[in-house]
Amino acid sequence: MEIQEIIALVKRTRAFVENREKAGHIKTKGRADYVTQVDTDIQAFLFRELRSRFPDIQFLGEEEGLHEMAADTYWILDPIDGTTNLIHDYQHSVVSLGLYEKGRITMGVIYDPFREDVYYAQSGQGSFLNGTPIHVSEAETLSETIISVGTSPYDRELAEENFRRMQRVFDKAQDIRRTGAAALDLAYVACGRTGGFFEPRLSPWDFAAGMLLVEEAGGTVTDFAGEPLSFLRKGSIAASNGKVHEELLGAL
Ligand code: IPD
Ligand code: CA
Ligand code: CA
Repeated sequence: MEIQEIIALVKRTRAFVENREKAGHIKTKGRADYVTQVDTDIQAFLFRELRSRFPDIQFLGEEEGLHEMAADTYWILDPIDGTTNLIHDYQHSVVSLGLYEKGRITMGVIYDPFREDVYYAQSGQGSFLNGTPIHVSEAETLSETIISVGTSPYDRELAEENFRRMQRVFDKAQDIRRTGAAALDLAYVACGRTGGFFEPRLSPWDFAAGMLLVEEAGGTVTDFAGEPLSFLRKGSIAASNGKVHEELLGAL
């Protein structure tokens, strides 16, 4: 499989993202949790195109939900990460596609159609932004970093504890950021713009591609307890440049 072929395919989703009329066709999935026609159109498009090229590879996509996967190879897709941003034309949303193979992610592509940026990685081959190798930051301590945070907006019962976490991280770091697109938060860790990112309850499609990007760029991704994440369950996620990981986990 050629990653450039996958990238070319993912970049074709830009036409869907630019359709502001379809971004206004909104259904509510839960508290502050929405899906637009753009999300469902992109998932249908990529499922169809990937299926025709790789008929044996199964799918796990956000708009069909978490379910048991019998296969040991499957695509993990978030058709739009940052749907609330898309609805408000905030221009900070991405398409995130990972390939799971026998227990690990072997390929990740995150496409930012607003900046025409493609972040991608393959296991053992490093991470890239538009063809140029990227690396995590050199920061040794949180005091040398900014850390992006996730609010788990669909799980409001987590907010009180999570905002306390943010305060603890803010107290140690230079500052915190909240962008509204977890996959892009991970891509930013991978290219050293932030020293880390955390969010208490993310789904596999939010972190699959971004996790590989961070790891291949020299960083570390675990849950809040420092354990590996599952690709079939929701989990807390802490990503960093590696050097500040212990300090970040301590603050969390
Ligand atoms: C959400 C975004 C957001 C994060 C949420 C995710 P969605 O994904 O990544 O930044 O805080 O936890 O669910 O719903 O826009 O695909
Ligand atoms: Ca998402
Ligand atoms: Ca989504």
